[in-house]
Amino acid sequence: MKQIRKIAVNTGGGDAPGLNAVIRAVAITAHAKGWECWGIREGYNGLFLPERFPQGGLIRLTPEVVQGITNLGGTILGTTNVGNPLKYPTKQPDGTVVEVDRSEEIVSLFRQQEFDALVALGGDGSLTIANALAKKGLRVVGVPKTIDNDLDGTVITFGFDTAVSFATECLDRLHTTAASHRRLMVVEVMGRYAGWIALNTGISGGADAILLPEIPYDLEKVAAHLNARQAEGKSYAIVVVAEGAVSKGGTSAVIEKRVGAADRLGGAAENVSHALAELTKKETRHVVLGHLLRGGSPTTFDRLISLRFGAAAVRALAEGQSGVMVALDPPTVRYVPLAQATHRMKVVPLDCDSILSARELGICLGD
Ligand code: F6P
Repeated sequence: MKQIRKIAVNTGGGDAPGLNAVIRAVAITAHAKGWECWGIREGYNGLFLPERFPQGGLIRLTPEVVQGITNLGGTILGTTNVGNPLKYPTKQPDGTVVEVDRSEEIVSLFRQQEFDALVALGGDGSLTIANALAKKGLRVVGVPKTIDNDLDGTVITFGFDTAVSFATECLDRLHTTAASHRRLMVVEVMGRYAGWIALNTGISGGADAILLPEIPYDLEKVAAHLNARQAEGKSYAIVVVAEGAVSKGGTSAVIEKRVGAADRLGGAAENVSHALAELTKKETRHVVLGHLLRGGSPTTFDRLISLRFGAAAVRALAEGQSGVMVALDPPTVRYVPLAQATHRMKVVPLDCDSILSARELGICLGD
């Protein structure tokens, strides 16, 4: 196998706290091995749309460049969750837009730049692209990023803990205003089609009900639960709604369908809030935490796993690995095939301890 001299790192999909910590770990550990480390800006755009970047589509990541970024949210490389190179939206002469596979182009641009390997930081979409590139012969190691925690093969993704910590703090704040006004507060959190953020936030933040995509809800039952709580003397209530939550027989609330990118979800809390206001006759407000969950400094837990993941990704390349993702399997970090990590979405198992605990704590799950 060819000796590695020069590697690239990129960040794709929605940003998540911890991306910069991974970038720093990759750059420093690669430098220590005598490898050059380069960042590709905005997913793969820095390679195939360099004209977009006046300062160049690629940036040399020396230890000086990555100094002091561990605690910064966002990504110094920029990212994108549109323009998937496997399904690149391309306008046809008749004005229609079709999805075109541009992965061969990336492989040849990669070779032109003499990159020997890629460390791809991303969620299911970005790691599916990484897997396709690995199959075309690039040496690729993936790092599992997403606040949604919906990637298979790893116990946790970085960014998730920060998102849940902040959402829990928001719930703490909502308790006091809800109690002061005897209101029902309906809080929407991100997570796409998986309920991990909603479930963990709702339990930690003392919600009365949590609505997840995994358990289609019946609002009559939720209202009965809230009314019973009120009869017991609780004058206010908090309901956490995952953005992908679905009513029995219904579908997730979508605000935009896109070519070459995932549907945009939105409106779940608003719908639930209007319906529960009717059913409970309580004064109701809804709050969408949305992108606030993607910002801010990573928690200590996220910093630590991000730094460990970054170092492990470079270690994996040095050991000759490719087509794998680094994964947390406490107490260790191991490698799993990218194909395994991306073959299905990791949703909340209905028989898991957290679901059982939520029920035992008296939280209504909408069923
Ligand atoms: O996957 C991360 C995520 O934040 C989801 O939780 C959310 O549905 C989506 O990205 C939002 O994407 P955008 O930044 O395009 O609004």
